[in-house]
Amino acid sequence: MSRIKTIEWKENAAVIVDQTLLPLELHYERIENVESMYDAIKILKVRGAPAIGIAAAYGLYLAIRNFPDDRSVDRFLEFLNEKAAYLASSRPTAVNLFWALERMKRRANQIIANGISVREAKALLLDEANEILEEDRRTGKAIGEAGLKLLKGKKTILTHCNAGGLATAEYGTALAPVYVAAEQGTLFHVYADETRPLLQGARITAFELSKAGIPVTLICDNMSAAVMASGKIDAVIVGADRITRNGDTANKIGTYGLSLIAKAHGVPFFVAAPFSTFDLSLSSGKEIPIEERDPSEITCGFGKQTAPSGIDVFNPAFDVTPSHLISAFITDKGVILPPYEKNLSDVLRKQE
Ligand code: MRU
Repeated sequence: MSRIKTIEWKENAAVIVDQTLLPLELHYERIENVESMYDAIKILKVRGAPAIGIAAAYGLYLAIRNFPDDRSVDRFLEFLNEKAAYLASSRPTAVNLFWALERMKRRANQIIANGISVREAKALLLDEANEILEEDRRTGKAIGEAGLKLLKGKKTILTHCNAGGLATAEYGTALAPVYVAAEQGTLFHVYADETRPLLQGARITAFELSKAGIPVTLICDNMSAAVMASGKIDAVIVGADRITRNGDTANKIGTYGLSLIAKAHGVPFFVAAPFSTFDLSLSSGKEIPIEERDPSEITCGFGKQTAPSGIDVFNPAFDVTPSHLISAFITDKGVILPPYEKNLSDVLRKQE
């Protein structure tokens, strides 16, 4: 199945879909320097935790690619660390951003320790960014396959925000089982929450599913309780921006409410995410930094003023769903059931 290419490296630039223009325009933008990549992440031209990680890796390569070949490797590493810190300041919540930058820094140190020149190091760092993208593609497919087994017998799911192809390299996370099922000839019906204030559900999830020929029904955020009460929904699946050691999960604002509604109606609530979204350095969701965005996203969304001028606004972009409300994690290393702290560390130990 050919999906939209969220991000790719092409003719010496990172090419991204400018997601601020969706659903009206599918516009591919060439990003040729680190400042443009920083802005693209900050203003959500590229968004969704895994896609942000891939974008940051390419952003770091764009930063170092013109570093003079004849300067010292120490100066090169110093410059790379400075630029990584700059990119890391673009958004605070999705851990994939920091994960990808740390991975690029680790690779740079490894390369330089092997006595490789600055010129060759730059080429190898582009390879690493490409590998992060390719890995995400494989990861998405693995999540899809694991999720599909878990969803056996279920036909209708509800999702929030966009954790589809446009949030990753290809398959998405929450929508990966839907795409894998479609490849095998089975169509799920997806209910998509609009996802105020930036409407990632309406603008992006509804767009990519309908483009792929998957039945999708759009609802406002405040309709999900009524829809679940009507018995239409077999499972809720969402993505994640950061998952802590105990399974607490930060995701798009509104996810926590959805998990409570699912619990109240006996609907299973699944979180789909790659292991790069797990931040095992944090013990609970209380430690996750939550991004707050500009009040105008609420008072003047998409250019139309809908609230009194000067009104006080609170605009957190994410919330934390406590792990006891999550029925299972669907990951690239399989399905993880409670108790999460123990089962997560068991999965990781098996990989070592
Ligand atoms: O603010 P956004 O659009 O970057 O938020 C995206 C989400 O919350 C997604 O659900 C999450 O990043 C997972 S994407 C696979």
